Amino acid sequence: MSIPIVVPAELVARLRRATRVVALTGAGISAESGVPTFRDALTGLWAKFDPRELATPSAFARNPKLVWNWYAARRAALANVEPNPGHVALARMDALVPDFLLATQNVDGLHARAGSRRLVELHGNIARVKCSREHRVVDTWDAPADDDPPRCPHCGAFLRPDVVWFEEMLPEDALARAEDASRRADGTLVVGTSAEVYPAAALPRYARAAGARVVEVNPEDTPLSGIADDVLRAPAGLALPALVDAVWPGCASASAPPTPHAADTPRR
Ligand code: APR
Repeated sequence: MSIPIVVPAELVARLRRATRVVALTGAGISAESGVPTFRDALTGLWAKFDPRELATPSAFARNPKLVWNWYAARRAALANVEPNPGHVALARMDALVPDFLLATQNVDGLHARAGSRRLVELHGNIARVKCSREHRVVDTWDAPADDDPPRCPHCGAFLRPDVVWFEEMLPEDALARAEDASRRADGTLVVGTSAEVYPAAALPRYARAAGARVVEVNPEDTPLSGIADDVLRAPAGLALPALVDAVWPGCASASAPPTPHAADTPRR
C-alpha cells in the first residue's frame, strides 16, 4: 500500500517560480537504498564501539588499523547499493532549476550516481582515500606488508578515508558554496536529516533568513520542523518524486543515467 503524498498548492506555486534552490540531505535519503545510518552501521563485530572511538582523528592516531577496517567494512556494505527514487528526483530538480545546489552530509556517493551534478559533499566521500598527513587524495596504493593501514605513496604516512570526522573542519570550498547558495535561495529542501550536526544544520536557517520557502521531507519531527513552511511527513523515496511531479509535471519519472558503480570504488 503506497502512502498518498499531498503537495500543497501554495508550495507547488512557490517552487515553480523559484530560481535559486538549495537541498540539504542526510542519512535518511539513503535509508531506502539500504545504506545503514552511522549508528545503524555499528552492528555485529562493531557493536561494542562508540562512534567517537572510530571516527575521530585521535581514534585514528590511537588505532589506525581499527579505523581503517571499520571504513573498509562500511565501503564493502555499499558495494551492492543503488540510488533510490529520492536521489533521482533531486537529480531531476538539478536539471530543472536554473540555480540549484545539493549539499549532502552523506558520504555514500549515491547523489552523484543518480545524476546530480551541482553537488557538494560536506562530509566527504567514503570511496575516496587521502593521506593522513598532507590530505592529498590518493587513487592507488600498495597492499601493506604489516598489519597497518596502507601508506601514502608520496610521503609514507598512513592513508585514511576522505571523510570528515568528529572534531574536524568541513571542506572550506564545499561549505562556502553551500552557505552562499543558502543565503540567496528562494527555496530550500531539507531531506532525511536529523538536523543536529552543525554547521550543515545551519544552512536551512540561512535560507529562511533570506526569505526562502523551507520544505522538510522527513517521516519524523526534527529541530528544523518548527521553521519549515511545509513538512512532508513521508519517506523521501515517495515524497520527492511526488513533489517533482507536482511542480514540474512529466519530469519525475525520467530517471537520470546512473553512473557505473565502479567509479565509486577506490582502486588498489
Ligand atoms: N526519508 C526521509 N527521512 C528519513 C527516512 C526516509 N526514508 N528514514 C529516516 N529518515 C530521517 C530520520 O527521521 C532522521 O531524522 O533521516 C534522519 C537521519 O538522521 P541521522 O541518522 O542523524 O543522519 P544525519 O542527519 O545525516 O546525520 C548528520 O551526523 O552521524 C553524523 O557525520 C554523520 O553525516 C552524519 C551527520
